Amino acid sequence: MDYPATGYHHITACTGAAQEDVNFFTGIVGQRLAKQTVLMDGKFPHYHLYYSNANIEPGSIMTTFPYSRIMGRRGSGQVQSITYTVAMGVLPFWQEHLKRHKVEHGSVEERFGQRFIRFHHPAGMAFEVLEDRNDTRLGWTTREIGAAESVRGFHGTVLSVRDVSEQEKFLVEALGFRKTGVDGGYHRFEIGSGGANKTLTLLHEPDRMPGSWTFGAGTVHHIALWVADDGAMAAQKAIYEELGYTDASEIKDRYYFHSMYVRSPGGILVECCCNVPGGFEKDETASELGTKLHLPPWFEGRRNEILATLEPIAVPPGSTARI
Ligand SMILES: [Fe+2]
Repeated sequence: MDYPATGYHHITACTGAAQEDVNFFTGIVGQRLAKQTVLMDGKFPHYHLYYSNANIEPGSIMTTFPYSRIMGRRGSGQVQSITYTVAMGVLPFWQEHLKRHKVEHGSVEERFGQRFIRFHHPAGMAFEVLEDRNDTRLGWTTREIGAAESVRGFHGTVLSVRDVSEQEKFLVEALGFRKTGVDGGYHRFEIGSGGANKTLTLLHEPDRMPGSWTFGAGTVHHIALWVADDGAMAAQKAIYEELGYTDASEIKDRYYFHSMYVRSPGGILVECCCNVPGGFEKDETASELGTKLHLPPWFEGRRNEILATLEPIAVPPGSTARI
């Protein structure tokens, strides 16, 4: 059976203050600020910020809702950590970089024979830089992070689940992942050619209290997998319904792409999305990406009201164009 999902498109977290978030992703992780827009659901305006690698490739796009209004609760049934790939041998650089910026981080660990360092966003979510010899994507660079050390894009995610079996069934039967290993409490799944951007790991934590599902600061809200087009999206929705996952959402217009969501058995919200013509360049040119706030057309009538409630963001030099 052919499955539509090809790997990650983006991962979305609810963070805290907007400026702190911009500073973390552009200055600490070293990603490019690729788009400033707003959350397209609900009645309260919140930023929706997009960060990426140099070419804004699907599979490198970290998006955040700086969401100070409500605190989330981390726990099982959630993304436990988000993993970026880096080149072999650069973990000492990252250890020093994280230490210099006083970012909470651990020592070098290993999972499935790959070495990584875990570190934390100021709002609490965990990220990792993991050495991978096969990822040739182009990272963004900063004054401190050169091409050799830069994060290339996602390697994958670690999802905390109280029970592995039902989540495994969902990943394999509904999305087309295959199980490729167990290492202690970690269960690894890969899709397509596997490896960077095509890996998802379950961490079995049977006694961990479930985390919150709502938008709430300090939690990862969902992962999004990339499918080719609207036809592939409809095919994915049909697979869900055929298997009995009948709570898949309708296909939503997210302006820059189309999205559909389903709550997976382990509790994690899984989106599938596809590009639309124009993509991120629908409302600004390639050289303007990330430089200012854009509202989707249906929010333009509320522009002044929305702007009045959002904390202004200072775009750090070098985060939207190379310096
Ligand atoms: Fe999303």
